[in-house]
Amino acid sequence: MQSDRLLLRGRILTFRSEPQSPDDTSAYTYIEDGALLIAGGVILARGTYNDVIAEAGEARVVDHRPHLLTAGFIDTHIHFPQVQIIASWGAQLLDWLNTYTFPEETRFADDGHAAAMASRFFDLLISHGTTTSVAYCSVHKGSANAYFQEAERRDMRVIGGKVLMDRNAPDGLRDTPQGGYDDSKELINSWHGKGRAHYAITPRFAITSTPEQMVMAGVLVAEHPDCFVQTHLSENRNEIAYTLELYPEARDYLDVYQRYGLLSEKMLLGHSIHLENREIDALAETGARPVFCPTSNLFLGSGLFDDAGLKAKGITNAIATDIGAGTSYSMLQTLNEGYKILQLQNQKLHPLQAFHWITRGNAIALGLEDKIGTLEPGTEADIVVLNARATDAMSLRMERANSLSEELFVLQMLGDDRTIDEVYVAGRAQKGGKAISYPLQESTQVLAS
Ligand code: GUN
Ligand code: ZN
Repeated sequence: MQSDRLLLRGRILTFRSEPQSPDDTSAYTYIEDGALLIAGGVILARGTYNDVIAEAGEARVVDHRPHLLTAGFIDTHIHFPQVQIIASWGAQLLDWLNTYTFPEETRFADDGHAAAMASRFFDLLISHGTTTSVAYCSVHKGSANAYFQEAERRDMRVIGGKVLMDRNAPDGLRDTPQGGYDDSKELINSWHGKGRAHYAITPRFAITSTPEQMVMAGVLVAEHPDCFVQTHLSENRNEIAYTLELYPEARDYLDVYQRYGLLSEKMLLGHSIHLENREIDALAETGARPVFCPTSNLFLGSGLFDDAGLKAKGITNAIATDIGAGTSYSMLQTLNEGYKILQLQNQKLHPLQAFHWITRGNAIALGLEDKIGTLEPGTEADIVVLNARATDAMSLRMERANSLSEELFVLQMLGDDRTIDEVYVAGRAQKGGKAISYPLQESTQVLAS
């Protein structure tokens, strides 16, 4: 009988802690001729090739040398119904939502359309090296079912939720406080904790929910404290002003969510750009997580995320694409634009920190670091294989790269889907296995000869 054991050979990089400087070698494990042994969707062993192969028993070897193996990328904020409005011209947040986004999301009332788009969505994630997404679905329950069904078919660890929105949106894109509660409840019962899925209670943002709906969101959070909660916060100045008009009793924007009991370590707050001191203190006290969305913040002209300022207060920041306001599915391109946003504020995003962020760092922001985000034995085998010479420009630059950090920075600034040589989800190759593959006995002979 064929063994389901897989041994991946290549250069291995995984993080133990957040790197504190560009040469903080204590923060990571790097193995030049390394191997991962995988079975049942989980990493069984990690080490040098010689050590792992000695223990492997029967296994199929896939040789990814000279490429780099890291944990799969994690995208902590993305809108699945916006795949067909990425790159829509000329507007800032509120106009962009009304002109492009809301009309597009009304199409997801059609379950067939939602299913077709879910398939394309996950194809895109995989081709860009993203193995976990935290997604906003549309207001329609069927869109969330389509998202979770497609993820289940691919055995991906995902988080998602249908958006709650009962005002300031067109016909066909509003629920009601009770309807939104009932649909969310049904989706939680169907999906939360099923296989690798988690539910996120998702009031879209303050502008599209009445106080009555916020009350119901608070009830859902109280009834399901192990679900995630996601929304948007302080992305755009006009958005903030309108929010404070709609919620005149709120001390500030974050207080809208705080007064309905939504804040905790399970909460992800997209953008969190223009914050008052009180809001920053409340984030620090409750452990709620801001999510930096660099390509989106530049595209919509929203503003500059203060990563260092928030971190100095002990806040855990996540990073994400925010497709369809974001302009790339690639977490590498997200790091590229993130680097530039931080440069404008005299902050630095060095490559070790950057690669930590899109893997273990985002896993920590989700509280899932025991499952994803590293290549630790016992964790799930979601892995990307990176080729730092994937394009002519990268290849030429790599001729002058003398260190791992330099190679990572080339990937961070110039990498995209072309850089992703292979992706494993729960130990299964997704891109058709470009690498050389052979049974272990044969590889032992090769080694011996
Ligand atoms: N705020 C409320 N909804 C959205 C959305 O879909 N995208 C972005 N960027 N901001 C939002
Ligand atoms: Zn968003």
